[in-house]
Amino acid sequence: MTLQDSHGRRFSYLRLSVTDVCNFRCNYCLPDGYECSDDTASLTVEEITHLARAFAAQGTRKIRITGGEPSLRRDLPQIIQAVANTPGIEQVAITTNGYKLTKHLPAWHAAGLTQLNVSIDSLDPRQFKAITGHDRLQELLDGIALAQTLGFKNIKVNAVLLRDYNLAEFDHFLDWIKTTPITLRFIELMQTGDNQDYFAANHVSGESIKQRLEANGWQPVLRRAHAGPAQEFCHPEYEGRIGLIMPYSKDFCSTCNRLRISSLGKLHLCLFGEHGYDLRPLMTVDKEAELELALQELLQKKTATHFLHDGETGAIQHFAMIGG
Ligand code: GTP
Ligand code: 5AD
Ligand code: SF4
Repeated sequence: MTLQDSHGRRFSYLRLSVTDVCNFRCNYCLPDGYECSDDTASLTVEEITHLARAFAAQGTRKIRITGGEPSLRRDLPQIIQAVANTPGIEQVAITTNGYKLTKHLPAWHAAGLTQLNVSIDSLDPRQFKAITGHDRLQELLDGIALAQTLGFKNIKVNAVLLRDYNLAEFDHFLDWIKTTPITLRFIELMQTGDNQDYFAANHVSGESIKQRLEANGWQPVLRRAHAGPAQEFCHPEYEGRIGLIMPYSKDFCSTCNRLRISSLGKLHLCLFGEHGYDLRPLMTVDKEAELELALQELLQKKTATHFLHDGETGAIQHFAMIGG
C-alpha cells in the first residue's frame, strides 16, 4: 500500500520538521528580526512515534528529519531512534546546517541515521559567514569527513546559488567535487513571502546553470524510479555529482514524491500554497487508524503543481517553518 494522489503520484517519503527554531540566520531564509516559535510546542518523541507508524503503514519508507535546525532538539537521538525503529522505515535522513556536526554525528549514527544532507553555501569562510551569520565552514568540512569515516553513503551538500554572494564561486565548487565523492546540489532561490527584493537581486535561473554544466561535459544521470525532484549530473573526471533543484522548471512537480509535516504537526501537501492540516490531535496510540485514514483523504487535495509558475510569491513566510 502506498499513498497516492489524484494525479497518480506516489508518496513514500516524508519530510518531518522537528523544530522551527534555527541558530543560523541565512540571509535568503530568515529575514532580520524573525522570531522563532516556542520550541516546547514542537511534536514530542511520542507523537512522532505514532506519526511515523501511521505513515509507514501507508507505504512511507523514508523519513527526512528537518527544521529549523533539527540538532537544536536535545532529544534528537531519541527522535532518530524512534523513526528508525518504526517497522517499514528503511531510511532515516537528516538535513542540517552542520552546527557542531562532529560532536553530534556519532550519536545520530548510533541511533540509526542513514543519510546526511548539509548546507554549505560557500567554500570561502568570509562569504560563508556573510550568508549564514556564522563562521563555521571548517566545522562542516570536518563533519563531512567524519560522516565518510562512519560509512555514510551518498552525502549531499546543498548550496543556494545567489548572484551577489556565491555565483562567482561556481568553478571553485566544481573543483571541490573533483576529488570529493558527494552530491553537490545547487538549489534555485525560491521566492517566499518576505524575500522579494532579495529574490530580485539574487535569483539565478536553474536553467542557466544546467546549460553551463552541459557545456562543460556534465551529463544528466538517468532518473531512478521514485527519485525526487533533483536532476542529477555526472562527469567522468569528477568523483562527485551535481544535483539541480529547479522548482521553476515546468515539470518539477510531476516527480514530487514527498509530503511534509511541520514541527507543530500540520500536514503540508506542498512546500508552497496552503496553510497545512492539523494532524496533531490524531498522533496518539488509539488514533493511529484514524490518522491513516486522514492521510489518504487529505492527499486527494494535493494539486498538480505549485503556483510559483504564475509569478505569485510563496504563501510561506520562510523555510524554517516547514523545513524546506
Ligand atoms: P533527498 O531526500 O536526498 O532527495 O533530498 P531533498 O532534496 O529532498 O532534501 P533537502 O532537505 O536536502 O532539500 C534541500 C532543499 O531542496 C529544500 O530545502 C528545498 O529548498 C528544496 N526542495 C526539496 N524538495 C523540494 C520540493 O519537493 N519542492 C520544492 N519546491 N523544493 C524542494
Ligand atoms: N530558496 C531556496 N532554498 C532555500 N533554503 C532555505 N530557504 C530557501 C529559499 N528561499 C534551503 C537551504 C537549505 C535547505 C534546508 O533549504 O539552503 O539547504
Ligand atoms: Fe539557514 Fe536552514 Fe537556518 Fe534557514 S533554517 S537560516 S536555511 S540553516
